Amino acid sequence: MIREGVMNQAQKLLAGLKIPALQAPMFLISGPEMVINACKSGIVGSFPTPNARTPEILDQWMAEITEQLSSAQNPAPWAVNLIVHPSYPRLEADLQVILKYKPPIVITALGSPKNVVEAIHSYGGVVLADVVNTTYAKKAASAGVDGLVLISAGAGGHTGYLSPFVFVNEVRQWWDGAIVLGGGISTGKNVFAARAMGADAAYLGTRFIPTKEALCVDEYKQMIVEASSDDIVTSDAITGVKANWLRQSLLNAGLDPDNMTAKGKIDFASNGADNKRWKDIWAAGQGVSASESVSDVSSIVNLLAREYVSAASELTQTLKPGNRE
Ligand SMILES: Cc1cc2nc3c(=O)[nH]c(=O)nc-3n(C[C@H](O)[C@H](O)[C@H](O)COP(=O)(O)O)c2cc1C
Repeated sequence: MIREGVMNQAQKLLAGLKIPALQAPMFLISGPEMVINACKSGIVGSFPTPNARTPEILDQWMAEITEQLSSAQNPAPWAVNLIVHPSYPRLEADLQVILKYKPPIVITALGSPKNVVEAIHSYGGVVLADVVNTTYAKKAASAGVDGLVLISAGAGGHTGYLSPFVFVNEVRQWWDGAIVLGGGISTGKNVFAARAMGADAAYLGTRFIPTKEALCVDEYKQMIVEASSDDIVTSDAITGVKANWLRQSLLNAGLDPDNMTAKGKIDFASNGADNKRWKDIWAAGQGVSASESVSDVSSIVNLLAREYVSAASELTQTLKPGNRE
């Protein structure tokens, strides 16, 4: 049931951000530097745990993030992304490191969050579950998560397929916890629109690839800068799950973007093979054209904040006086 006006802990965290946005976790792209700079700039920073090649390296990364943010002025809360797919072999080891460093937010993906919610709540952390349709959203909600990350059409990497309008409307009919909306969101105006639609915050991945903090090669960053939505190909042929890829990177890997029929296999056990797929074939969402040059995380957050504020004031001014109450 919807409890008007009552915010849960996740919503309170999101309401305290400079702008209501999260730098989304990205395989082989987001690491400690991106997370630290995102949080110092006032939005949630996040990384997927497999980006640290071993649990020992994960321990070092989380120690570094904790230390850097403890001396920063008013940083935003940080997040880690935990793959909860049954084939992911490091789930238990990664969870132990999470319990040691207690990130304020854990984002689960590619499976049911049920088995990790209690452990994360036990230290006061909040759980956001990444979902692509209402069935999965309901399952995650019944597992006791604090927020749902609604991945809609146009998202980079593993994508959703629903219109964001439909997805937020439908989930808001029965869910009063936090909603984070992702998929093609790339400007401060878009972040404002996500709030206007009923989400608590926006989730931006692709926008943060062409940055000095991203762990990928420069050619990948440049390909994003040069791309438009025409260059994004949706296919499940690479990983077994529908994902958005840069057309030119498929061509460079010897694939035919217009004939991507073979369904890949979902398997997080073979991290090496998955690494290779994502290293050579580059993921990106439909919002690529918002990036005009390679930049850095804090400049992007500052730009998003300016765009967000101007969208808010422009729209308020255009409201007719009679509609303002
Ligand atoms: C290169 C890349 C890698 C990604 N890797 C992950 C991942 O490891 N875990 C995850 O939950 N989501 C991953 N995503 C999805 C993002 O977290 C997020 O849902 C998406 O970027 C939002 O859409 P946008 O790219 O249009 O902003 C990835 C996205 C990209 C572009």
